[in-house]
Order: sequence, then structure tokens, then C-alpha cells
Amino acid sequence: MIDIKMAEALNKQINEELYSAYLYLSMSAYFETLGLNGFAKWMRIQSKEELGHAMKIYDYLIKQNAEVKLLQIKEPPHSWDSLTHAIEAAYEHEKYITGKINELVTLSENLNDRATNSFLQWFIDEQVEEEKNTYELLRKVKMAEKHVGALLTLDKQVGEREED
Ligand code: FEO
Repeated sequence: MIDIKMAEALNKQINEELYSAYLYLSMSAYFETLGLNGFAKWMRIQSKEELGHAMKIYDYLIKQNAEVKLLQIKEPPHSWDSLTHAIEAAYEHEKYITGKINELVTLSENLNDRATNSFLQWFIDEQVEEEKNTYELLRKVKMAEKHVGALLTLDKQVGEREED
């Protein structure tokens, strides 16, 4: 059984991950409207990954016999000024999520909760990947944004992403 404060913070993180899924699905829909099917596919897969993150925490709470509380998910933006703005927002969002994970780790340390601390290590590593992936995507988008040909080639390449 874990401390109520830890369980509450993990429940809030489920909500953050579900919001991430919502945000990226909204970006995916936006990319469809731009005709960028590759980016749309990439973000749709990313959205599913976020759902997986939420479920990892959900399963952990259940395993710990703690209460799972699903909170209201806020409405994400529906459009951005451009592809670049959207990917920039995704990168900023990942940095925000990293901060949230770090807060959870600190709380687990303060509560001397070794099990949750160990559980959170996966998320620490995952956030390094998440930031790297979105940052790399942002750099490529910035390079290609002014050349339609390059952008379409990048869209094709990005669309080759497969689900894990
Ligand atoms: Fe679940 Fe992209 O962080």
C-alpha cells in the first residue's frame, strides 16, 4: 500500500498522460487538415503511446491496492499557427511532462517510497527518449518548412513510424 499523497500524485499523472494523448490526437487531426498524412500518423502513434503511459500508472496503482481516480481531461487546442508551431508545442509539452515526473520522483524520495521510486525510473528514461524524439522532429521540420518538396519528403519519412 502506498501513501495517499503518492497515490493522489500518481492519479494526477494519469490525467497528464491522458491529456498528452488528447493533445497529440488533436495535433494528428490538425495535420490531416494540412494534408500531412505522415505527421498525422506519427502523432496518432504518439497519442497511443501516451495512453500506454497512463495505463502503466493505472496498473501500478491497482497492484498497490490504491484507488484509481480518473479526473476530468481538459480540452486541447484544435489548431496551431503552422506545423512548426505544433511540433514546438509538442516539444515544450514533453519538457513539462519531464518536470512532472521529476516532481513524482522527489515525492517518492521524501516519502521514502522505494517501490514507487523504482517504478518511476522507467518514466525517467522514457522522458529522455520523448524529449529527444520531439526535438529531433522539430529540428527537421525547421529545416524543411520553407521547401515544399523537402517537407513532403519529410512527411513520407515521418509516416514510416511503426507502433512499438
Ligand atoms: Fe508520457 Fe510523452 O510523455
